[in-house]
Amino acid sequence: MKIPCFPFVRALRSVRKIQQNQCSLSLRKNQMRFSSNVNQDEKSFYTTTPIFYVNASPHIGHLYSAVLADCLSRYKQLRGFKIKCSTGTDEHGLKIQQAAETAGEDPHVFCTKVSEKFKHLFDTCSISYTDYIRTTEQRHRVAVEHMWSVLRDKGLIYKGSYEGWYSTQDESFLTASQVGDAVDSSGKNVKISLESGHKVEWMKEENYMFRLSMFRHQLLDWLKENPNAIRPERFYQDVVQWLQEDLPDLSVSRQKSRLQWGIPVPGDPNQTIYVWLDALVNYLTVAGYPGHYQQWWNVTHHVIGKDILKFHAVYWPAFLLGAGLPLPQMIYVHSHWTVGGKKMSKSLGNVVDPLDRSNVFTTDGMRYFLLRQGVPDSDCDYTDDKVIKLLNAELADSLGGLLNRCTAPALNPAQLHPMFCPKSFPFDPTEQSRAISEDYQMLSAVGNLPSIVENYYEDMHVYKALEAINACVRQTNGFVQRHAPWKLSRQNMEEKHWQDTIIHVALECLRIYGTLLQPVVPQISNKLLSKLGVKPSERSWPALNFLPRFHGMESPFEGRTLGTDTEVLFNRLERFSVKGTKPKKCKNTSKCV
Ligand code: MSP
Repeated sequence: MKIPCFPFVRALRSVRKIQQNQCSLSLRKNQMRFSSNVNQDEKSFYTTTPIFYVNASPHIGHLYSAVLADCLSRYKQLRGFKIKCSTGTDEHGLKIQQAAETAGEDPHVFCTKVSEKFKHLFDTCSISYTDYIRTTEQRHRVAVEHMWSVLRDKGLIYKGSYEGWYSTQDESFLTASQVGDAVDSSGKNVKISLESGHKVEWMKEENYMFRLSMFRHQLLDWLKENPNAIRPERFYQDVVQWLQEDLPDLSVSRQKSRLQWGIPVPGDPNQTIYVWLDALVNYLTVAGYPGHYQQWWNVTHHVIGKDILKFHAVYWPAFLLGAGLPLPQMIYVHSHWTVGGKKMSKSLGNVVDPLDRSNVFTTDGMRYFLLRQGVPDSDCDYTDDKVIKLLNAELADSLGGLLNRCTAPALNPAQLHPMFCPKSFPFDPTEQSRAISEDYQMLSAVGNLPSIVENYYEDMHVYKALEAINACVRQTNGFVQRHAPWKLSRQNMEEKHWQDTIIHVALECLRIYGTLLQPVVPQISNKLLSKLGVKPSERSWPALNFLPRFHGMESPFEGRTLGTDTEVLFNRLERFSVKGTKPKKCKNTSKCV
């Protein structure tokens, strides 16, 4: 029995949904009394990645932060937003000073070398940043000095003395309850941070303090009025919890005798600005602070890992409130990648090199894996085996196989988008035809897919978006398999029309998948859409408009020539036994994983 479908009702619903989304967006903005009243450009979107410490080379966790932010930014661009996307390196502080000393290098030379490695990784992995910031740049120094002066002039910075625990690895101050006992590798009793496991030291110093304690209630009010300010929900709850507790003032400088590698406190060359205050201001520097920063600053969205939540969701908003600046619109938090269930570390020898793995699995393969398997709420364990299985199943077999079937010269000798025949696949499912209820269900699923994917992208649940796309790809493969167009005779007119319709529908589905996948796998999507003959101007969100011929409208694709590229979309990967070798491309698919 056929299941009736009501595409127009669905279309109406999705229009309403968009209108509702727009309403709730403007509502959210109105609610945000912590934003400035500056006229916001509704169509601008500023995404930031954390800036990366240059004490060590990049690993897959770093790439994950960057790929998530890039995916969000690319998605917004496809939705028609003007975008800014920043990334870069965090180069000051004791940790970097010590790393440069250990390497026996001048700190700036050392920073440049490692910063270039991050840049190279991001360029290779299609991170479409619009600005790459280094905290050692002069424009950043100007911004930090300005921020410091504003806070000082407002009486929020005072000279005091700090006594307590400090973790150089985390560049973080800790209270007694955040510190525990441990034994180090040489059998010595040491104190560690309970959160990060890094060693801490007792520190007693004259320095400048920021009146953080003054902001506890304002921060709680901000969160109460902006329940979506920190996503996912569990991290929002963590911050609310922290703010229920005591919030002591924060030391925001170190004595120059201990820390030389940083920005001196304006007016006091014996003190160096605390590296986190320095680093967080990078987001403002990129927005144009202290010049014309408002346009971008009002539409700021931070992507961060869970380990740096307190800095971004407590210290940073407090500095901004203190300086009279709007707070970020959203902070998206992600969990971590582990290897063998453990945090990656040089000493454990389990660091996964993202450049090396991208070389093995392709950069889009790596991006797809990280975004498909990475769940923001919980940690995820990395293995090469998982990558191979996932990419073979979803990119090579499912998506690649579908494209291959529908564009193979044997089935599509004219290499065209064939005509859709409304009699073969009538809009009214009760009409007699070859299409069955599963086919109507498939059309309905693909028709609804953009709005589903949109909601997931908006919420940074990229893995759910990919799950939804993959489920539809499977349905389309089922559709093609079920009707076996290769068995239909082109001499028989009715069969020919039905064969053309099957291929037309499948190519339309592929166009939707290729468009929706652009933020995740830009190169594969480009290859797919080019093969389908979809022009660059037809690849944005508003151009999605699935299967217009079924809805009685004209299709710009009918009769269009396919692209000439004959390479497969994604080569299957072979499981490889020697760690680090490049998996061979399979010739015989039955031998593959
Ligand atoms: N320099 C600070 C950030 C300053 S932002 C104003 C910093 N740098 S970092 O290099 O240590 O980390 C950068 C990003 O990588 C953070 O979002 C962090 O959570 C992320 N990751 C570091 N290790 C990670 C994993 N193992 N897994 C996933 N992401 C992780 O913190």
